Amino acid sequence: MALKISFLPYKIPSFPGSQDRSHRVSMASTLRSPPTENIKKPFTPPREVHVQVTHSMPPEKREIFDSLHNWAEENILIHLKPVEKCWQPTDFLPDPASDGFHDQVEELRERCREIPDEYFVVLVGDMITEEALPTYQTMINTLDGVRDETGASLTPWAIWNRAWTAEENRHGDLLNKYLYLSGRVDMRQIEKTIQYLIGSGMDPRTENNPYLGFIYTSFQERATFVSHGNTARHAKTHGDSKLAQICGTIAADEKRHETAYTKIVEKLFETDPDGTVLSLADMMRKKISMPAHLMYDGVDDNLFEHFSAVAQRLGVYTAKDYADILEFLVGRWEVEKLTGLSGEGNKAQDYVCGLPARIRRLEERAHARAKEVAPVPCSWIFGREIKI
Ligand SMILES: [Fe+2]
Ligand SMILES: [Fe+2]
Repeated sequence: MALKISFLPYKIPSFPGSQDRSHRVSMASTLRSPPTENIKKPFTPPREVHVQVTHSMPPEKREIFDSLHNWAEENILIHLKPVEKCWQPTDFLPDPASDGFHDQVEELRERCREIPDEYFVVLVGDMITEEALPTYQTMINTLDGVRDETGASLTPWAIWNRAWTAEENRHGDLLNKYLYLSGRVDMRQIEKTIQYLIGSGMDPRTENNPYLGFIYTSFQERATFVSHGNTARHAKTHGDSKLAQICGTIAADEKRHETAYTKIVEKLFETDPDGTVLSLADMMRKKISMPAHLMYDGVDDNLFEHFSAVAQRLGVYTAKDYADILEFLVGRWEVEKLTGLSGEGNKAQDYVCGLPARIRRLEERAHARAKEVAPVPCSWIFGREIKI
């Protein structure tokens, strides 16, 4: 049965009165008033984004990040891998310079022949998410106190951001080349989706605030670790062990990134427990939107919801995973054990510690109310229909 889960982990940002607007009639990035015309402005997100809050970290807290330079050098940069020791996409793909190239491509196509369309839809969505990397580097460079001020800044924060981006760049590259060679998907539609997505950006609501930003990246790295790990598992079940290896290798990178980002937030909890728990509660109240939530292919106004619903149905990334990730992070940062908090801090602590159970309850109720939904066509697989 196809399920419609109302508490989707990839919740699209919502604003009163705007949910039903088509991308063709909404627009503008910071609208407070309704759109004046029924015309979509080019190169704007496919939905209104939230009213933007900027620079919400009090200026004096910037000093915390300045004082952590030595710490970050010794504790964060160690989680980067030297380029010479890193895998590269070509390590997992047919070698175009070898005589056996055509045979290797044929073998790749043979291996994935039994994989169902819906799996490919999820893999494509994951690949598109990775391919919007310019947006994520931009997002991290919006954060006060840790941004790369010059493009070649020598602060450990900037070094991390550039090298992290360079590591991540291999993920989309590898998945893109694999999918291209598989012949199973409509690459032109996928390429259009990537162009739309990078043009639209993202709306993580991190407010130039590195507390919020690093909580967001901690959550996201774990979410991608979970999701790539699950696509690896499914590929193996469908008989493509090479694809399983590809997804598993990417998942291992995400795990290493998660370790680095969660260490930064752990340090913030140690330095400023009240400010950090308030930030965690703030991000969770706003809900962690997935990085590719503004995706659009020129056809489907609800593309992201459809991709998310398939990922949920296949068990690649689910509402339960969302609750599990939060529970993991709350445990990792020992939020329950925090003491000496302000009144607001205590409330924030109670809220985040009780939230995983609350999300699970909501999800169970949504599951019980779920109705069968008609299949939808998906441009990424030549308009064939997928169950959602
Ligand atoms: Fe990645
Ligand atoms: Fe990552």
